[in-house]
Amino acid sequence: MKRCHHLCRLLHLWLSLVILSFSHSSYGDNVTYDHRALVINGVRRVLISGSIHYPRSTPEMWPDLIQKAKDGGLDVVETYVFWNLHEPVQGQYDFEGRKDIVKFVKTAAEAGLYVHLRIGPYVCAEWNYGGFPLWLHFIPGIKFRTDNEPFKTEMQRFTAKIVDMMKQENLYASQGGPIILSQIENEYGNIDSAYGAAAQRYIQWSASMALSLDTGVPWVMCQQSDAPDPIINTCNGFYCDQFSPNSNNKPKMWTENWSGWFLSFGGSAPYRPPQDLAFAVARFFQRGGTFQNYYMYQGGTNFGRTTGGPFIATSYDYDAPIDEYGLLNQPKWGHLRDLHKVIKKCEPALIATDPAYTSLGQNLEAHVYKTSSGACAAFLANINTQDATVKFNGKTYQLPGWSVSILPDCKNVVYNTAQINSQETTSEMRYLSSISEGTNQPLSRLSSSGWSYIKEPVGISKADAFTRKGLVEQINTTADASDYLWYSISFNITMGEPWLISGEQTLLHVESLGHVLRAFVNGYYIGGAMGSADSTKISLSKLIILDKGKNTIDLLSATVGLQNYGAFFDLSGAGVTGPVTLSANGVTFDLSPYVWTYQIGLKGEDMSLFDDSDDSASLWLSDSTLPTNVPLVWYKTQFQAPAGNDPVAIDFTGMGKGEAWINGKSIGRFWPNYTAPLSGCSDSCNYKGAYSSSKCLKKCGKPSQQLYHVPRSFLKEGANTMVLFEEEGGDPTKISFATRHTGSLCAHVSEMHPAPVNFEVYPELAVSKQKLGPMVHVTCPGPDQLINEVKFASFGTPQGTCGSYSHGKCSSTNALSVVQQACVGMNSCRVPVSTKAFGDPCRGVTKSLAIEATCSS
Ligand code: GAL
Repeated sequence: MKRCHHLCRLLHLWLSLVILSFSHSSYGDNVTYDHRALVINGVRRVLISGSIHYPRSTPEMWPDLIQKAKDGGLDVVETYVFWNLHEPVQGQYDFEGRKDIVKFVKTAAEAGLYVHLRIGPYVCAEWNYGGFPLWLHFIPGIKFRTDNEPFKTEMQRFTAKIVDMMKQENLYASQGGPIILSQIENEYGNIDSAYGAAAQRYIQWSASMALSLDTGVPWVMCQQSDAPDPIINTCNGFYCDQFSPNSNNKPKMWTENWSGWFLSFGGSAPYRPPQDLAFAVARFFQRGGTFQNYYMYQGGTNFGRTTGGPFIATSYDYDAPIDEYGLLNQPKWGHLRDLHKVIKKCEPALIATDPAYTSLGQNLEAHVYKTSSGACAAFLANINTQDATVKFNGKTYQLPGWSVSILPDCKNVVYNTAQINSQETTSEMRYLSSISEGTNQPLSRLSSSGWSYIKEPVGISKADAFTRKGLVEQINTTADASDYLWYSISFNITMGEPWLISGEQTLLHVESLGHVLRAFVNGYYIGGAMGSADSTKISLSKLIILDKGKNTIDLLSATVGLQNYGAFFDLSGAGVTGPVTLSANGVTFDLSPYVWTYQIGLKGEDMSLFDDSDDSASLWLSDSTLPTNVPLVWYKTQFQAPAGNDPVAIDFTGMGKGEAWINGKSIGRFWPNYTAPLSGCSDSCNYKGAYSSSKCLKKCGKPSQQLYHVPRSFLKEGANTMVLFEEEGGDPTKISFATRHTGSLCAHVSEMHPAPVNFEVYPELAVSKQKLGPMVHVTCPGPDQLINEVKFASFGTPQGTCGSYSHGKCSSTNALSVVQQACVGMNSCRVPVSTKAFGDPCRGVTKSLAIEATCSS
């Protein structure tokens, strides 16, 4: 009995050890790294990653976005963690709805993707105040992002809080979860010199603080060449092929490959050609990289007042591979998906060795990854803008200018970054003709009776207004509780003052740090001014006529997103700095040092007029004199949600500037009348040559942002409520709803292109003796959609772009019928780009096939 007892215990011990070690290896992933790559469970990995920020879309959108990311060939989803979202008041946390980061991470895991969690907690990200909560600024003695105890205490507390949360949910790879990587700080190396010697201590402290949290997975610091071991320093930029980490024991990693660029109110819309983006990615893998992240893979929307600043727009589309609305941005998404497939083909060779470089001529580079076991992958780059012919391993290759050819077997070109096989799609907004409740009229012509309104009082109207001698700085005063701060001053004018000569005008002059200023004299709007993303400073000069007796000047100062980048960005400040002067007859009087009355925020904000509740129902006026084109009006209407599931947008043309709420949820600031500069744009952008954020711009002279995303989940069946606050003056009866659709499918593929790399085709290519040639391959976006029309098809030398192709000098006569036959009635079709299918309309000339088709809705 005794012996058995002893044996049983031994057996138990042995069994539990077996179970323990079993559960560890089948559950947890062991993530480490070496010189070549991140190493997961002992295997080096080539990883393709993409940024999708959870609060810039909705939980309802996450599964679809993540699936599209996976279908696009991503292994990893990257997100920042947004401190000010989660801890709006010190010690009070919020992880609900769009802020449910645990759910987001789990959604990625369910799709089989890894996660890179960039905690920061400074994140930049075109996010309000770089992600810092405003209360942080008011902690006595605090200095951000340096060796400062109050700051470090808070940074550590929040970072630990997030790590603990993830641990509790077993979300680190070491626990069987998807998180394989975490980031601490963000691009501190770009600005650390401004913080002097303390910067070094801060970085050392950040590193050891992060490591002490014991996540079981590696940490990175981006743009931090002195990142202390074992933290990996990584690269951010449009190109990172020249980068190398600060130790030979660390892999070459790219945490932000900017897939486009962000939009500012008052700016033009940047875009980045897919050929150049693919070129940058291919160059990175060519020169030894093994981890690459698109910033952004889907940019999304800055809802509410979350945009950074100053002047970051509500749309954060970023020209990313998935657009703001969650639709594929083609051909970018498809061209990169093809690239990812080819890179994965090269993975066995890429992880095994460093590349061997040989020059093929000036700016012509070959890098070969060759293993002892026979794997071989080669990258041939032409960094000139002209095409070139090169000899490599005894074979001749044509290398288009500014391109990389990838040869996963060191012989055959399977992909070239400049030759797009993927289809292109146009996106169109379909304007809706009847969504107004009850009436069946177009919303754009909705009678003013459909709207009710409340006028926001000019100047001081709230009981919590206060007085101060002199002018105050805005952010220190409002703590960003609102965009708005009223500066109000009243004074008496008796006869004999120089600026009161009957019939003569006085010059009012106001200097402000911005971001926007609206001036009222005795209750009348006399004008406004705004800064821009480049300079927030404003000076407003207006001729006014003052009254005899009491006069009041009310200045409404508004912020448009708080600064998110730069050394000491937190101290940039905003609001009326002064002087505020009156001048007439050569005499100037400075009002700045006198006693001003201040009001933080709007009365309507205090009353929550944007809320769906009926508390304020009786206050809304619906008389026949709907005020339009006057400042400071709250508007409200009801509407039916557009039918179907297509993404929804509001076109705010006709409005000035303000904020919009749908069923109580803010869809962000609107500002359709802030237009982009007239020049600097080009219809087409040459992808050849180094890209920069100002190289390829659209929308010159047009509103920077006209369309605003309304997530489907903000809408309900039946009556929906829309509330607008218009600050400057607009006509809400002019706004309209639209749904977003894919328009045409286009493709333009030449005889010189490699065969498609689609996975259905690729195995054939790999095994086939007879080589597959180039092909046009188009697919309707929805599984139930069929191609109903081939609008254009030309084999020969067609020209133009999607939507405006034309036949060239050489064109085969049967192109349209061949393509119609292959495609009409199909969800997806492939047509070979070859004279076999079309005959040869011009011998000796390189031909291409261009098609444009549409799908049933
Ligand atoms: C980087 C920064 C990102 C984002 C990006 C521009 O410098 O790390 O957070 O701001 O620039 O979109």
